[in-house]
Parts: sequence; structure tokens; C-alpha cells
Amino acid sequence: MQTFEFIVNGQQQTVEDVPADMPLLWVLRDRLGLTGTRFGCGIAQCGACTVHIEGNPVRSCSVPASAAVGSRITTIEGLAAPDGTLHAVQEAWLEHDVAQCGYCQSGQIMSAAALLATNITPSDADIDAAMAGNICRCGTYVRIRKAIRSAAAALRMRI
Ligand code: FES
Ligand code: FES
Repeated sequence: MQTFEFIVNGQQQTVEDVPADMPLLWVLRDRLGLTGTRFGCGIAQCGACTVHIEGNPVRSCSVPASAAVGSRITTIEGLAAPDGTLHAVQEAWLEHDVAQCGYCQSGQIMSAAALLATNITPSDADIDAAMAGNICRCGTYVRIRKAIRSAAAALRMRI
């Protein structure tokens, strides 16, 4: 068992008695109560558990918590601004009424936000590449892609 320190959604967190091989997902959900990040497949194949480490999207089910020590981690709970202003991706998700059952959606949003953090003029191929690993059993893919294009346009308007 080990004690790990992370910066999660802008707050320093110390988590004690963590098994060395515990995936980051379980630290976030079970130790820090951040249950917006979902468990789907557990083998890095569905994207439901996507969070950002230093801005990069990762499958938290398959990243040992030990690998994220000292890093800045963002989960869906921390995507909005501190004053509650939603991220452009969240706004677009609402505008396009993307979610169906909702189970996959936090992971979808985190992948989309990571894409737009580095590319606010994504081509369809860019979107497909960034979102390829995020599975939606409800088949909301068309709305997801519309929402990403809409969020990208909104971000361009802010420049
Ligand atoms: S639960 Fe992590 S990728 Fe499916
Ligand atoms: S909205 Fe149901 S799995 Fe994606």
C-alpha cells in the first residue's frame, strides 16, 4: 500500500493505502467519490473511463494510479470553469441533446474536450480519429459529431 498525491480538478489530493497496481479509475471513483467517470470494459476498449492527465485523454481503467502521481488530472466534474460556466463541449452536448442513456457520455465529452484543446478546426477525419475509441451502445454518434463541430465553432468565435 502506498500514499499518492495528485492534483485533481485543481485541488491537491492525498490518497492513502493505495495498492500499487490500483487503476486510476478506482482512486477517482472509490477514494475521491468522483463517480462521473464510468467503468465500462476495464480493458481500455470503450472509453467510458476517459479522463485527462496533463490535458491528454487517457483510459483511467488501464492507467495505474502510480503512473499519475504528481500529475494534474481532470475529470468530468472539473471540466466546467470554477464559476460553473460550462465548457463549450458541455454546452454543445446540451444544445444537441446528445445523451441517451448517458453511460458513455462523460468519456465522450472528455475525449472531445481533449481534441478541441489542441485543434479548434478539426476535420471529420480528425474527429473520427479522436473519438474512435469511445463506444456508445445507444448509437449517439451522429449527435456527438454534430456537437463537436458546434463546440469547435463556438471556440473559434471566442478567439
Ligand atoms: S472502462 Fe476504461 S476503456 Fe472501457
Ligand atoms: S448514451 Fe447510452 S451508451 Fe452512449
